Amino acid sequence: MAEPVRADVVEQMTISMTVNGAPTTVEIDPSEPLATTLRERLGLNGTKVSCDVQACGACTVLVDGLPVSGCTFLAYEARGRDVLTIEGLAPSDDVLHPLQQAFIDANAFQCGFCTSGMLLAAHAMLVADRSPSDETVFAEMSGNLCRCTGYMPILAAIEAVRAARGGAG
Ligand code: FES
Ligand code: FES
Repeated sequence: MAEPVRADVVEQMTISMTVNGAPTTVEIDPSEPLATTLRERLGLNGTKVSCDVQACGACTVLVDGLPVSGCTFLAYEARGRDVLTIEGLAPSDDVLHPLQQAFIDANAFQCGFCTSGMLLAAHAMLVADRSPSDETVFAEMSGNLCRCTGYMPILAAIEAVRAARGGAG
């Protein structure tokens, strides 16, 4: 179990974690949200911050495979753990992840501000359950809000990947 950190007595700390498969060491403020570390210290701007109060899902990243809100999950809580951001989702620079391609095919974004979080939440869901029920999809994606596309194209994109895997259609 990791040692608790007193944010009121520690001004800076150095943490190590794995980010998108790469061992990463970075100096942080112990009260700093993980999204700030990713965006401002590591240059991973694909993680978006909108509401800043864990209400919209725009900042979703995966820590040890599970979705967290990067705007409220503290960076120091990620020390020693695996962090996946949108920059690490595609298998290579030349090949998109199937969810990314499905979002393009379904026109599942407009401004794109929610898209990183949507993709990572959907990815975590489909890794945990290759063939989630409609109810599971709705429940797992309910924390991710989109203010411009509407949800049908997003659900259609997820459904396309689910169906391609032989899941419930
Ligand atoms: S920016 Fe983190 S949940 Fe909205
Ligand atoms: S595409 Fe603009 S918020 Fe979802």
